[in-house]
Amino acid sequence: MHSTTLADGTPIPTLGQGTWKMGERGANRKAEAATLRAGIDLGMTLIDTAEMYAEGGAEEVVAEAIDGQRDKVFLVSKAYPQNASRTRLPQACERSLKRLKTDVLDLYLLHWRGAVPLAETVEAMERLKQQGKIRSWGVSNLDVSDLEELGQGLSTCATNQVLYNLEARGVEFDLLPFCQQQLMPVMAYSPLGQAGALLRHPVLRRIAERQGATPAQVALAWTLRAPGIVAIPKASDEAHLKENWAARMMVLTPEDLTELDSAFPPPKAKQPLEMI
Ligand SMILES: NC(=O)c1ccc[n+]([C@@H]2O[C@H](COP(=O)([O-])OP(=O)(O)OC[C@H]3O[C@@H](n4cnc5c(N)ncnc54)[C@H](OP(=O)(O)O)[C@@H]3O)[C@@H](O)[C@H]2O)c1
Repeated sequence: MHSTTLADGTPIPTLGQGTWKMGERGANRKAEAATLRAGIDLGMTLIDTAEMYAEGGAEEVVAEAIDGQRDKVFLVSKAYPQNASRTRLPQACERSLKRLKTDVLDLYLLHWRGAVPLAETVEAMERLKQQGKIRSWGVSNLDVSDLEELGQGLSTCATNQVLYNLEARGVEFDLLPFCQQQLMPVMAYSPLGQAGALLRHPVLRRIAERQGATPAQVALAWTLRAPGIVAIPKASDEAHLKENWAARMMVLTPEDLTELDSAFPPPKAKQPLEMI
């Protein structure tokens, strides 16, 4: 399954590109934009960014990557919670659009919950949609109780972007089923566990060897095994990018999945939503 649909029927690819940590060093920006462009050429046309990343620097890198090909890309950005109010959200959106050198975002997310009431953020998002500044809106790092608080807004909330990888499976207990019930795709962030201990785990290494793949590909194929999940790995290295793109074709066997379940057990009870 290489694409899914937002609740409003918009198709989106299930494997995209993250941009956190991009744009932080001027000297790296050209190379970062080139990697994102290479990803778009391969078909990783969903790009996830945020005003927070390098304080707008990542959005500027994305602008360079999508120059001349905006229509090929599904562009996602996020607003700081302190900017999610009636008055500040339109201003934050305008600044993101300017940095991204575009006139519309495909998807605009509340990055995490802050002091602004959710109902006010929903109203501000809906207004941006009516004004044609964004095509859809969604949230990030919200748990089931927060989503329930969206009330009517839940029916127009396009996605919830949350931490989801083999080391962080708590959302499987209640959040993923809840979103599936709402026909709301979930965007899995840090699907590679930020290239930390997860990619060195002996079980991932063993499965990778058996499959003729890499641990990163096993981690990604696992995240993408269920419908309605979008993974957004970040890669600045073009070899990583190609590896990640190939992972969408990988099918984990029942034996692989059983081994992964015993090394990284699924949750048996409600767990607080983890976030980075
Ligand atoms: N909503 C939120 O609160 C939130 C929070 C965190 C992240 N995010 C989004 O999710 C995206 C992904 O998460 P992330 O950046 O935290 O972590 P990640 O995608 O799990 O890991 C990124 C790290 O993995 C490395 N990597 C990529 N492909 C690899 C491969 N095939 N083999 C080995 N290493 C590989 C990257 O190295 P190189 O760069 O050197 O290739 C980078 O160091 C972010 O960039 C951001 O867009 C959202």
